[in-house]
Amino acid sequence: MERQAKLSTSRIREFQLFLFQWWKGNKRDFPWRETRDPYHIMVAEFMLQQTQAERVVPKYLVFLDAFPTMADLAEAGTREVLRVWSGLGYNRRALWLQEACKKILLMGGFPRSPQELRMLKGIGPYTSRSILIFAFNMDLAAVDTNIRRILIHEGFATKTSTHKELFQIAERLVPTGRSRDWHNALMDYGALEVTSRSTGIKSKNSQSRFRGSVREARGVLLKCAVENGFIEPGQMVKEKGLSEEAVDKAIESLSREGLLFEERGKLFLKE
Ligand code: ADE
Repeated sequence: MERQAKLSTSRIREFQLFLFQWWKGNKRDFPWRETRDPYHIMVAEFMLQQTQAERVVPKYLVFLDAFPTMADLAEAGTREVLRVWSGLGYNRRALWLQEACKKILLMGGFPRSPQELRMLKGIGPYTSRSILIFAFNMDLAAVDTNIRRILIHEGFATKTSTHKELFQIAERLVPTGRSRDWHNALMDYGALEVTSRSTGIKSKNSQSRFRGSVREARGVLLKCAVENGFIEPGQMVKEKGLSEEAVDKAIESLSREGLLFEERGKLFLKE
């Protein structure tokens, strides 16, 4: 009952008017907001999954300069893709992005539903929807940690709301036909006004400690492999200050994913 009362049509309308009014004076400019090309939007959303928007901007521009179309990325070599991506972390995502392009090119058109997009590795509930919202202005809702924080802050949800509940609330808030603007406005409101710091609302899945992690080791190993074409595991422990355990686990996962292969005691990067 209470949830219904919080989400009356007039409360929804009030928040929509408030947010769009706020947005008039607070819009941020980003290069991915100037395009409707679904591939360009997909590149941006893959990068934005892990890195702050301001830091994504130069990477996004360089990446699209190197691979302006889906076909350019699909045809590029692994090493080249990783080289251009390097600095963003989570190198796997660059390869998933490339794999997604290869698959989409075989589909005969860019997917138009979250379900189809979610068949691609690296694309989850949020990214599938955000791509369709920003590329095609589809009447969908996307919930990331910033939007969750806004819903809680505005009293539409609580810290214990499930993802399904958050999503149902977010869907009712989307103004029909204005989904693209609406989500951009929410992103800006979450980044500038309703921040984690100002509200004390923490993200539910905050990232685990990086220093000493396998994730860190994976990044260091891949960077060396991209630069030199191969790595020597012992050197990684000695020269890069990584633990033997982290290096072993990183090698194991990179090999399992087919990124590295062993030959004469060295680990080579897949071409
Ligand atoms: N974070 C995730 N997607 C974003 C977008 N399209 N604009 C700004 N920040 C974002």
